[in-house]
Amino acid sequence: ALISLRQLLDHAAEYSYGVPAFNVNNVEQMRAIMMAANDTNSPVIVQASAGARKYAGAPFLRHLILAAVEEWPHIPVVMHQDHGTSPAVCQRSIQLGFSSVMMDGSLRDDGKTPADYDYNVEVTRRTVEMAHACGVSVEGELGVLGSLETGEAGEEDGVGAEGKLTHDQLLTDPEEAADFVKATQVDALAIACGTSHGAYKFSRPPTGDILSIERIKEIHARIPDTHLVMHGSSSVPQDWLAIINEFGGEIPETYGVPVEQIQEGIRHGVRKVNIDTDLRLASTGAIRRHLAQNPSNFDQRKYLQAATDAMYDICKARYEAFGTAGHA
Ligand code: G3H
Ligand code: 13P
Ligand code: NA
Ligand code: ZN
Repeated sequence: ALISLRQLLDHAAEYSYGVPAFNVNNVEQMRAIMMAANDTNSPVIVQASAGARKYAGAPFLRHLILAAVEEWPHIPVVMHQDHGTSPAVCQRSIQLGFSSVMMDGSLRDDGKTPADYDYNVEVTRRTVEMAHACGVSVEGELGVLGSLETGEAGEEDGVGAEGKLTHDQLLTDPEEAADFVKATQVDALAIACGTSHGAYKFSRPPTGDILSIERIKEIHARIPDTHLVMHGSSSVPQDWLAIINEFGGEIPETYGVPVEQIQEGIRHGVRKVNIDTDLRLASTGAIRRHLAQNPSNFDQRKYLQAATDAMYDICKARYEAFGTAGHA
């Protein structure tokens, strides 16, 4: 059944677990996410970005998610719009039947210029007013997502700050977070703690100075009743990087957020954990390997099945690691 983000995260907070929110663009991702959820009895958050709407078209995306609900009616599914750039974009998703929207007012509506605090409060408050009237949840964002190591927002088309970011912008301020939640009434808050979007988060496995679990603790202590969201939470599996590079790919050394650090975050109020890059890496590695090992194959179902299986394994591992398993 389709449920709202608020319904799911209230349950997650009560039972102290986290929920991976996987980005979805096509049927292979959708099936991998749902089969892993079904096999582990996990509730699901699937999210669609502006890039996903451009790639698949809004009606196909919408029906892709609705098809999942039809095929697995016993699994609770949140249909979430990722990184909305304006109240109008969120309104359109609400009309399409999304049960949750993100109003990312940390950036202006161009999706790349860091916005000031008052702008963020205003667009987020307006979105909440509209969404709550329809039973739809809202995720806001405070602080600008980017690497504490490089000061850069990371790779992503459409969303992400341009130019160098300051240390202050890169860590959400707990006092400001309390004020923001009070002023906007958001259901969930994405915070900046040193993660960034894409595969190039850290040039070495992260330690406390470049990924601030400490900051998550401080924010959670200040706003214990607000569900925290960690964007840029791909772990960048080293085994898939090696497979990609073994079979013709060229991806330089890079590290993501270790699963143990996400688990630590979940112990301190993180409830929604955004993952896109890990499924892209697994899928690409599986397809490269399959085609290299089966040079005469041209049935796309065979290599797409290999991609689905690889994504399934990642999803299953995250449902288990985040404590989502068993809560559907
Ligand atoms: O937050 C961003 C997700 O990784 C979506 O990426 O804009 O390329 O679809 P995308
Ligand atoms: P990753 O690029 O780390 O997978 O993050 C995805 C994300 O935050 C989507 O909103
Ligand atoms: Na989101
Ligand atoms: Zn994001």
